[in-house]
Amino acid sequence: MYYSLRSACTMTLFLRKKKNVRTAVSLTLVFATILMLHKLIRVDTNFKDTKVDVKRKWCGPTCKSIKAVENSSQSHGNGLVPVGKPMPTKWDVKSINCHENSTMKTQAWFRHLNPRFHEFVLHRHCRYFPMLLNHPEKCSGDVDVLLVVKSVIEEHDRREAVRQTWGKEQEIQGLKIKTLFLLGTPATGKDTRNLQALVQYEDRTYGDILQWDFIDTFFNLTLKEVNFLRWFNIYCSGVPFVFKGDDDVFVHTKNLVELIGFRVEENKVENLIVGDTILEAKPIRNRQSKYFIPKELYDKRYPPYLGGGGFLMSSQVARRLFAVSESVELYPIDDVFLGMCLQKLKIVPELHLAFRTFGIIKRKVTRLNREPCFFRNLIVVHKLVPQELLKMWKLVKNEDLNCARQVVI
Ligand SMILES: *[C@@H]1O[C@H](CO)[C@@H](O)[C@H](O)[C@H]1NC(C)=O
Ligand SMILES: *[C@@H]1O[C@H](CO)[C@@H](O)[C@H](O)[C@H]1NC(C)=O
Ligand SMILES: *[C@@H]1O[C@H](CO)[C@@H](O)[C@H](O)[C@H]1NC(C)=O
Repeated sequence: MYYSLRSACTMTLFLRKKKNVRTAVSLTLVFATILMLHKLIRVDTNFKDTKVDVKRKWCGPTCKSIKAVENSSQSHGNGLVPVGKPMPTKWDVKSINCHENSTMKTQAWFRHLNPRFHEFVLHRHCRYFPMLLNHPEKCSGDVDVLLVVKSVIEEHDRREAVRQTWGKEQEIQGLKIKTLFLLGTPATGKDTRNLQALVQYEDRTYGDILQWDFIDTFFNLTLKEVNFLRWFNIYCSGVPFVFKGDDDVFVHTKNLVELIGFRVEENKVENLIVGDTILEAKPIRNRQSKYFIPKELYDKRYPPYLGGGGFLMSSQVARRLFAVSESVELYPIDDVFLGMCLQKLKIVPELHLAFRTFGIIKRKVTRLNREPCFFRNLIVVHKLVPQELLKMWKLVKNEDLNCARQVVI
């Protein structure tokens, strides 16, 4: 009797404590939200204050001068493109020339290396692959922004959602937008032949898939990076801006175009690469993590790099990245690889608060994730399933959406 009473008391006490904890937690959340909104509103005023007519500004003299710079750098090779190595006029890699480097196996460090990385290290020297699907025509004509989306064959739904929403080929404020998806081949063991037939059918319908003949594994994502940079260098000499992102992000294309407008106005195109910059990151040593990197492979801090969910760059930067990438050893994490290239170019990628490549959205319970006004002021938000993307897009596009409410969430 006594004991049960006591335990009942303890129970109430515990519950009361729990309630206190809960209050504390929600208070913290409220503060965090206020802080974030404060930042958001700043971003928001950035967008709203300067109502620029991007096309007028952009395709006036500035636009001409950007394209002229491009052209002159191409013909004179003033350090923006690989010197002494003329670019081919079309994709010229015809066979997979990728044998494993067996001398590697004789080395002590290789034997100590976590076996998860063996395959990567043995094929690290293989860089360029034949193309199974190509669209040389994609950049012809007046293309202003190329949206490039990393995807894998199986994620057909995500591509479909992107085509219907932020990846729709259209003109925004006079800037012509085109979209491409980057694919490798399915991993062995999957229904390779059928998947390939399906993706070819999909490409006949939309004409927006670039596919290279390497297996689409996580560690091979860097191949997507370097093969795309080379492709862009060959086929897209007239395209001034590239947005690169994942197939599970929300992109506010109009805000992206406005950002381009601002950077053009400010004359900040030459070194433009902007997104969710990560500084001073350490390699993850937790073996459980997808991003685990053993000391044998890398033992310093990472250079500044952009969260891969999505970032914007000018073609000048894309060209220099390609040139420098050829002398950077492939790294199993593609975002970091690009950071290494940027470091060699002495470019620190610009951090912009409207790019949210992680964080927030992972807490599925926060109301913000379902709050269209939150999305309206951003450029990139990471990790949405196709249905969420379609729903959010509809809400954000809704002109009647009253975002004054956002201040009182
Ligand atoms: C740049 O070169 C392309 C083709 O090489 C040409 O169509 C375009 O007019 C040139 N642009 C400028 C501004 O000279
Ligand atoms: C193969 O590995 C050895 C030992 O690490 C290295 O010296 C050599 O350059 C590699 N070969 C290629 C083609 O990368
Ligand atoms: C990357 O792709 C190549 C070509 O398909 C393959 O030989 C290699 O094993 C892949 N590497 C990894 C780490 O999956």
